[in-house]
Amino acid sequence: MKVLILHGPNLNLLGVREPGVYGNMGLDEINQRISEYGLKLGVEVKCCQSNHEGVLIDALHDARTWAAGVVINPGGYTHTSVALRDAIAGIGIPVVEVHLSNVYAREEFRHKSLVSAVCRGKISGFGWRSYLLGLQALVDVVKNDQQAQ
Ligand code: DQA
Repeated sequence: MKVLILHGPNLNLLGVREPGVYGNMGLDEINQRISEYGLKLGVEVKCCQSNHEGVLIDALHDARTWAAGVVINPGGYTHTSVALRDAIAGIGIPVVEVHLSNVYAREEFRHKSLVSAVCRGKISGFGWRSYLLGLQALVDVVKNDQQAQ
């Protein structure tokens, strides 16, 4: 099973960016831990990050051709991007939304997600471990879907 891990804008700055909110771990280290966890689950992960909405959309379209599903942290686009939501809705593979911070404990504009309704589920608030929880959930969903077919 292959899975795309997609990080949105500003997540390249993890470790430096607002460590009190997002923690001290950099993105490379997080990706390493996701890959190691993937191996434990028997999953090959490909990790990508972009600050550009169109690049994220292209990566989602491309994932249709090779990935069983996607774990996405859309960053600030979570709260603004109809185009990202449409891409998730359009690709027909399961997508799990993750956030490092607990978005509901923060500013009100972060409480609204345009992508949640088209994702299979959402994990928020567990720091970098949100990605591991999201990956675990995605693998469960994919296996369940396969059994139901
Ligand atoms: C975030 C939460 C978003 O509101 C914010 O814009 C981010 C990071 C998180 O992982 O907690 O960039 O997605």
